[in-house]
Amino acid sequence: METHIFKNEADLYETLRIIGAMFKGDHVEIGTLNGKSAFIMAHARPSAHIYCVDPMEKQKANDQYQGIKETGHSAIFIKNREDEKLIEQITLIQEYSLPWPLPPEQRFDTALIDGYHVHPIPMWEFEILSKIVNGAIVIDNADLFHLTGCITKIRMTPGWVLEYAGKKVAVAWNEQWLLQTGRV
Ligand SMILES: C[S@@+](CC[C@H](N)C(=O)[O-])C[C@H]1O[C@@H](n2cnc3c(N)ncnc32)[C@H](O)[C@@H]1O
Repeated sequence: METHIFKNEADLYETLRIIGAMFKGDHVEIGTLNGKSAFIMAHARPSAHIYCVDPMEKQKANDQYQGIKETGHSAIFIKNREDEKLIEQITLIQEYSLPWPLPPEQRFDTALIDGYHVHPIPMWEFEILSKIVNGAIVIDNADLFHLTGCITKIRMTPGWVLEYAGKKVAVAWNEQWLLQTGRV
């Protein structure tokens, strides 16, 4: 099955704006940093609650980035969330994505994978999300070599359809949702 929902090339934030407006239910993101992607989603989908999974300063080490530059800090995020007036709409879960820190039965319309980009972590994250997401899972940095395992897994998982929104952003669509909404 193929789908061509993206007419023009989109970067991460444009992809989130588009997907934000397509669904009404809750969204979960893995990897929040200072909150930009979460704020974009919250504004695009005011009906949703946004859950942000990121250990931030609770990380022991982040060898992916060899330093703290790309590691979130909760004080910065909390200040930004206040400035954006999104305290009620966004919850920070200051934990690693694995083991999954939310109740296993809690479902979401959409998700973002943008945490630790090294194989096999994103692949395991997709495995978890594919069981609890009704609509779409966005994957940032899809062009990275380390994401190959995750992209391959999506292609091989029945019930999910891969589309590239741009060179660096991929979206895994839940086939049920595509069929229900007549998008294929
Ligand atoms: C690229 S940044 C996220 C950027 C954010 N999505 C945005 O667009 O504004 C990556 C974040 O992933 C977090 N991170 C690293 N390993 C993680 C893990 N195992 N689970 C969840 N988050 C993780 C880091 O602390 C960092 O804040």
